[in-house]
Amino acid sequence: MIIGIPKEIMQGEARVAATPETVKKFCKDGITILVESGAGEKSHYYDDQYRNMGAEMVYDPEELYRRSDLILKVKEPQYNESKDKHEIDMMHEGQYLITFIHPASPGNHSMVKKLAAAGVIGLTLDGIPRISRAQNMDALTSMSTCAGYKGMIMAANDLSFFMPQMFTAVGMLKPANVLVIGVGVAGLQALATAKRLGAVTYAMDIRPDAVEQAKSLGAKVIDSGVPAEIAVGEGGYANKLPDEWIQKEREHLKGVIKDMDIVFLSALVPGKVAPILITEDMVKDMKNGSVIVDVSIDQGGNCEITTPGKKEVKHNVTIGGIKNIPGLIPTSSTWMFAQNMYNLVNYLVKDGKIELDLNDEIIKSILVTNNKEIVHAGAKEAMGL
Ligand code: NAI
Repeated sequence: MIIGIPKEIMQGEARVAATPETVKKFCKDGITILVESGAGEKSHYYDDQYRNMGAEMVYDPEELYRRSDLILKVKEPQYNESKDKHEIDMMHEGQYLITFIHPASPGNHSMVKKLAAAGVIGLTLDGIPRISRAQNMDALTSMSTCAGYKGMIMAANDLSFFMPQMFTAVGMLKPANVLVIGVGVAGLQALATAKRLGAVTYAMDIRPDAVEQAKSLGAKVIDSGVPAEIAVGEGGYANKLPDEWIQKEREHLKGVIKDMDIVFLSALVPGKVAPILITEDMVKDMKNGSVIVDVSIDQGGNCEITTPGKKEVKHNVTIGGIKNIPGLIPTSSTWMFAQNMYNLVNYLVKDGKIELDLNDEIIKSILVTNNKEIVHAGAKEAMGL
């Protein structure tokens, strides 16, 4: 079996799908690994290191796509300017592709159709269920961990004062107040990071389990005002709240965010648009110089006036809607991503070949295209198929 690791071509993407460490493990398993030259450079994994671990370096992406049985990538396929060709046009029938496809997202529908037409078997990492046996393959969780940590570091960097309490010869400076709304994977990591930096931390979530975890990290809890029977749905996930409850939540927040220095927004119900919890009027009430980091921006954002992909100052508050935060910490995010990839491939490969058990819960939820058809339920629903 041959696995190809192309260089990512999306602008600003520094990550890559394999490290020299995972190359070594694949080679030990008897798999041939092709790595495009320079693929790991931006995350500080270099050609020589891959070669030393047994990879064959390839200089032309077309050759890499042609020879590989399976392609591992970070970002969905896109148009390769330097080749004047879409990456899918370099792929072939029966080839497997594992990456973040986000197949339900309207911007990706034509790409997913193209993938199906090309006969590529596409598996999407955003479909990995959050169950314990899939934990070590869950790249989305790994990336949320990166976004929580780095997002909080970015917020601290934008603050015009210290995070910790400081005792100096000229007097005492108070610690920053940090509120994290939505304490799932990203939010809990953000809380832990703020705590390590010396802030006083506050947390709000509608799931009682999440609130308990935040408490164990030393955060003070802000009541969301939403009863558990309305907040929690099947499998313990949060429910998408009706507008009247979102309104109640905003009322609870109004009283507290004016005292906050950093508000970190990571509230999301999987597969839905992010709830707007902070309105423009609420931003106007915030302290001058305070900071909002809205990491749920890919799903629309939790703040009404976050600009996607940008950091802007509005009403004297710095509001960051930066996308691809894990790409800003590329050595660690690549390391985690590559480990997740190795574990997933290991799960799919039996006797040197990929075998898809279509009754398996993990495989069912990640399979997007198979036998030239789109088979992903969410994508089909979104496309009206
Ligand atoms: P998660 O599902 O683990 O956590 C979301 C939390 O929000 C849950 O605890 C849920 O109970 C809570 N929540 C839902 N509705 C709420 C409401 N109305 N009020 C308060 N809390 C509510 O999700 P995860 O993995 O932590 O991701 C969070 C966000 O971070 C997502 O939007 C994700 O796309 C984003 N993210 C952004 C990145 C970036 O580069 N900007 C990178 C990675 C993740």
